[in-house]
Amino acid sequence: MIKISVFCSGNGTNLQAIINAIKSKKLKSVKIALVVSDNPSAYALVRAKKAGIKTVVVEPLKFSTKSGFEKEIIKHLKKEKVQLIVLSGFMRIVGKDILSEYKNRILNIHPALLPSFKGAHGIKDAFDYGAKVTGVTVHFVDERTDHGPIILQEAVPVKKDDTLKSLEERIHKVEHKLYYKAIQLFASGRLKIAGREVEII
Ligand code: GAR
Repeated sequence: MIKISVFCSGNGTNLQAIINAIKSKKLKSVKIALVVSDNPSAYALVRAKKAGIKTVVVEPLKFSTKSGFEKEIIKHLKKEKVQLIVLSGFMRIVGKDILSEYKNRILNIHPALLPSFKGAHGIKDAFDYGAKVTGVTVHFVDERTDHGPIILQEAVPVKKDDTLKSLEERIHKVEHKLYYKAIQLFASGRLKIAGREVEII
């Protein structure tokens, strides 16, 4: 059994998909030990509580440095013996304290095919750009934003009659099935990082 912590800032539909995958045993040997949020009004916290999962809110404005903020989070992670961090709509750049404590043990999901359309508006940016294909990326987190070694990617075509909303819906559907698969691969010890390559063994 591996203990994970899911970090969320908002709605938490990806968190919900992970909770559901654990419940339906599609995702095995994984326990969500803690949900961390930087935002006290994140709906993800309600989802976690409904599922009986511990939550903690750590607000960056309450700390004078990023390091202080991250050390507080690490304290909670250690208390729960968390082995893997899963960023799930966590709209904050992970800094050096968490990165060094959890080297190669932080995953992120991004709603575009990296390295295209990095940043906080991956779906809208691809749509506005007129991309014909976009998608979803799950990757390890390193010191550069939306940059670490890629674990899984899936393409999503942009249809002629797509609106931003319809494209968002299709991307989220793909996210919800891709993330737990990547978590399962990690939990089963099947991911081997060699430079930028992630080998699935
Ligand atoms: C997801 O689409 C996720 O890929 C994106 O935020 C959304 C969170 O939704 N993350 C990023 O853009 C990170 N750069 P959720 O709170 O409903 O899971």
